[in-house]
Amino acid sequence: MNAYNTVKKQLQAKPKSWLITGVAGFIGSNLLEHLLKLDQIVVGLDNFSTGKTANLEEVRDAVSPEQWQRFSFTEGDIRNLDTCRQSCAGVDVVLHHAALGSVPRSIENPILSNENNVTGTLNMMVAARDKSVRRFIYAASSSTYGDHPDLPKVEDKIGRPLSPYAVTKYVNELYADVFARTYGLQSIGLRYFNVFGPRQDPFGAYAAVIPTWIAAMIKNETVYINGNGETSRDFCYVENVVQMNLLAATTERQEAVNQIFNTALNARTSLNQLFELLRCRLLPRYAHLANFHPVYRDNRPGDVLHSQADISKATSLLGYAPTHTIEQGLDTALDWYCK
Ligand SMILES: NC(=O)c1ccc[n+]([C@@H]2O[C@H](COP(=O)([O-])OP(=O)(O)OC[C@H]3O[C@@H](n4cnc5c(N)ncnc54)[C@H](O)[C@@H]3O)[C@@H](O)[C@H]2O)c1
Repeated sequence: MNAYNTVKKQLQAKPKSWLITGVAGFIGSNLLEHLLKLDQIVVGLDNFSTGKTANLEEVRDAVSPEQWQRFSFTEGDIRNLDTCRQSCAGVDVVLHHAALGSVPRSIENPILSNENNVTGTLNMMVAARDKSVRRFIYAASSSTYGDHPDLPKVEDKIGRPLSPYAVTKYVNELYADVFARTYGLQSIGLRYFNVFGPRQDPFGAYAAVIPTWIAAMIKNETVYINGNGETSRDFCYVENVVQMNLLAATTERQEAVNQIFNTALNARTSLNQLFELLRCRLLPRYAHLANFHPVYRDNRPGDVLHSQADISKATSLLGYAPTHTIEQGLDTALDWYCK
């Protein structure tokens, strides 16, 4: 049996108590759904700045009434230390996902990104320390690789950050390292690479590329490609991210603790390829896509040109084995996107 299946069996036999910050968001609500389906006890915290009650309602409808009763939710803000402390009480594992995402948003308002992503995360680490949380898993980011030219990206080789968002995510890693050495807080940082899947917000100026393009294709609106389309990303389906969180939360290998792990596939898809992957999948349902072309425009400041993860550290230390390629992820999520 692979590591992920073993962990799921162990959790079902002996449930843990979890706190998910950012639970009403895209990744947070997917973590919630998987944990409840494994009969875990989950506390959720979110201020609904980008998260939605509809995401929580979808999870409620996907789990049994008994499983839903194991979930308690607080509307609150991680910029408030008391809120963080109250949420961490009695919790075994924190999955810290509350943050303001998006590079362009951080360029427009770096102070707000810093307050949410740096001060908020510091509050969560202090609260986890004070409430003797056993493991603190947090959402780091591939943006931390900044201008480092090497591909694929290896965890210990980073460049200079290219945006305020990247700075905030790197500062989280620095605090986690210092909290491990100073207070003994056990943490693991997961550097996510372009995650996609159900409940990722398709709307607004700061939406991610896959849901934005799908929404535009369905509505026959313009799809913009920033640059010449040869920019590439390691798109990672959200179920692979859930797997990494569960493996990191439960690993007993000491050499895996207080570490950073790339969380992706070790694959590279250009934006031109992505456009075709989406268009081909949607074409049977939307005939207007037969003759549909993107519009090219300038690259955005702060974006890296290429991104691809080396995942050998996660496979060797955590037993990570991604279950979904980009194609399998898109096929799995297509009905949700169209709905
Ligand atoms: N989606 C990706 O591709 C990706 C890539 C790298 C890193 N990440 C990180 O993963 C995490 C989750 O991202 P996501 O894509 O699910 O984003 P999301 O915007 O859907 O979810 C973030 C959630 O955090 C909540 N939140 C924000 N600030 C808060 C605050 N101060 N107090 C309480 N709640 C707050 C929001 O309301 C939202 O529900 C974030 O930390 C993000 O930086 C995501």
